[in-house]
Amino acid sequence: MRWPAGYRRDLAVVCLPYRHLFCGTGKESGISFCAVALWPHPSERLSDMAHDHQAHHGHSTQHGHGHTHGGDVDWAAIAELMEAEAEVCAPVYARALAWLGKEVTEPGLIVDAGSGPGVIACLMADTFPGARVVAADASEPLLERARARAARQGVADRFGTIAGELPDSLGELAYPADLLWASRSLHHLGDQKAALAAFAARLAPGGTLAILEGGLPSRYLPRDIGFGRPGLQARLDAAQEERFARMRAELPGAVPETEDWPALLTAAGLKHTGTRSFLLDIPAPVPDRARAFVVGWLTRTRDIHGDVMDAEDRATLDRLLDPADPGGLHRRPDVFVLSAHTVHRAVRPV
Ligand SMILES: C[S@@+](CC[C@H](N)C(=O)[O-])C[C@H]1O[C@@H](n2cnc3c(N)ncnc32)[C@H](O)[C@@H]1O
Repeated sequence: MRWPAGYRRDLAVVCLPYRHLFCGTGKESGISFCAVALWPHPSERLSDMAHDHQAHHGHSTQHGHGHTHGGDVDWAAIAELMEAEAEVCAPVYARALAWLGKEVTEPGLIVDAGSGPGVIACLMADTFPGARVVAADASEPLLERARARAARQGVADRFGTIAGELPDSLGELAYPADLLWASRSLHHLGDQKAALAAFAARLAPGGTLAILEGGLPSRYLPRDIGFGRPGLQARLDAAQEERFARMRAELPGAVPETEDWPALLTAAGLKHTGTRSFLLDIPAPVPDRARAFVVGWLTRTRDIHGDVMDAEDRATLDRLLDPADPGGLHRRPDVFVLSAHTVHRAVRPV
């Protein structure tokens, strides 16, 4: 990656509060802070470091090669579904970022820890035009998507990626973050308390850590859909809870934790500054994109939980997934998207 031709945006970056320039980790000690135009672009350096990291490990990512962590997911295999979900949820993220923006004014460096395909990271780049954004994830194929999205969106010049296992991979950061966002990624790390402490350590003084965890299970269909046993989604939620518990128990270094996120943020040495839930409410009739996401979600649900469902629920799901069935998801008019996403934010004391 080359230093971008237009300097104006980069000048905006060097006009940010001094902590962006001087609170380094020591890795950037060779940088000349006064030579603005020669100052290496952090995303360039981060990409280089990410490549080094891959080289040291012999392959880019466990996920990318279809391996999983314990009972965890093969993320690259569901990249499209992840992207579709994040795009459908984009209004929620936009509101969450607006809320964070009241606390994090003019961030210089934003890190999206467990970024997946980078939908939210790119939204961050849009929301905070003076910021550099780093998407960090264990899955290189997902990061490839993130970089492609950043390029399509015209923000590639201030967008970098770090491939590797969280939270250790954040050691690749050359600068402390003003905003570190971890959306539904923390719960995939074995020791969540230790991970939060490690995230907190990557923050600049006064920087914000925001985690999206919890909320409510999504609803896409009425309780009674006119065939099968009513309450299908509630039973799928119960199956998902079991799977989630198994997934957590099988993670490397798994530590059971009471999911009191504000208390955990406080234990990480941060000051909890607020918790808010954001509603995603797309009533029927839904746009095609949302419908396609619901079809994708239920298809995956059938794959994952098919063997623990009873025969009636399996038959109901099969009908829902049949594109020719008038009662199926592709054609029925009453599909909707309703979900609640909870964000907890906390600040590193100055
Ligand atoms: C549920 S997805 C969330 C993606 C995105 N943050 C969102 O909210 O749409 C979890 C992400 O965390 C990443 N992840 C899981 N375990 C990880 C680990 N140990 N190190 C780095 N990334 C990990 C996965 O690759 C995946 O992209």
